[in-house]
Amino acid sequence: MASKLLNRVPAVSARLKCQRTLSPTLAAFTPSRLLSDVAPRPLPLPATAAGAGDSPPASASPSPQSSGSSGKFDHNAKSSSSSVRSSLKDPELAKFSAIADTWWDSEGPFKPLHRMNPTRLAFIRSTLCRHFGKDPSSARPFEGLKIVDVGCGGGILSEPLARMGASVTGVDAVDKNIKIAHIHAALDPVTSTIEYCCTTAEKLVEEQRKFDAVISLEVIEHVADPAEFCKSLSALTIPEGAIVISTINRSMRAYATAIVAAEYLLRWLPKGTHQWSSFLTPEELVLILQRSSICVKEMAGFVYNPLTGRWFLSDDVGVNFIAFGTKSSQ
Ligand SMILES: C[S@@+](CC[C@H](N)C(=O)[O-])C[C@H]1O[C@@H](n2cnc3c(N)ncnc32)[C@H](O)[C@@H]1O
Repeated sequence: MASKLLNRVPAVSARLKCQRTLSPTLAAFTPSRLLSDVAPRPLPLPATAAGAGDSPPASASPSPQSSGSSGKFDHNAKSSSSSVRSSLKDPELAKFSAIADTWWDSEGPFKPLHRMNPTRLAFIRSTLCRHFGKDPSSARPFEGLKIVDVGCGGGILSEPLARMGASVTGVDAVDKNIKIAHIHAALDPVTSTIEYCCTTAEKLVEEQRKFDAVISLEVIEHVADPAEFCKSLSALTIPEGAIVISTINRSMRAYATAIVAAEYLLRWLPKGTHQWSSFLTPEELVLILQRSSICVKEMAGFVYNPLTGRWFLSDDVGVNFIAFGTKSSQ
């Protein structure tokens, strides 16, 4: 259970002690099982991992199951090296390409991300400032930090990070997203400094790029192999650097809210945006990051208040959650 991992603290986000030995829950995943099985397909999880009774049958998803990478989708972020496993999953990229024009429409398909933005930025500001010894009340707290936003989409997170003083690189596998991000960022001299590039994390690793902080929000559930993706994110991070990842829990509640309600009832998102089987539980994310030399230190849930239409940080990681981790020095 996620709650077993979390030490509650007043600041709503739960701080995690880096575990040298695995808790009984995490120990349910042997390393070999973890690295081969934390993949975008239904996982036969032990009840202790996903939460007893939390697993709808994969076939119960109302959304069409995507296959792996078909190679048919036209993007230009393919990895040049055959030794590096690509994080690309073409059916996922095609979905984002189809709605790329709507990135900055705050009432469009990306409305939930626009609405979540202040809350996730609050988490990022507080964790990164604490880790890098910056003043969170300063207007530009990230001055001097090199941050990469992996899977940046149209730049709705990259831009505020740049306004907070960071030197930002935004990368996305969909060329149309990068073009939109570029055009929008150019409207403001502060954000026009963002380096946007249509590429992948693994490609940046090949280029030996390094960053103080690596941020990838709502992306890991769309990649081909989450464990490999985390290895790439880790390789991009300097020793003692930071990683922030957000995603959706593979819980029954997430199936009901993030898929059935958001895609089919409320129609916030296009149908088929999410595959339940591609979601990760907090325990899985902690463990694959740990296997990539990243120790998760804090975790928080995002909870939606339908009365105010706002998201807030919570200890409830049952649906949407965000994790902050640091890279070990070796
Ligand atoms: C749900 S959007 C999140 C966008 C942005 N991170 C945010 O939260 O505002 C997922 C993004 O990840 C991108 N993406 C998916 N797979 C990717 C990969 N393997 N490498 C880079 N970007 C990827 C998609 O094109 C899309 O823009």
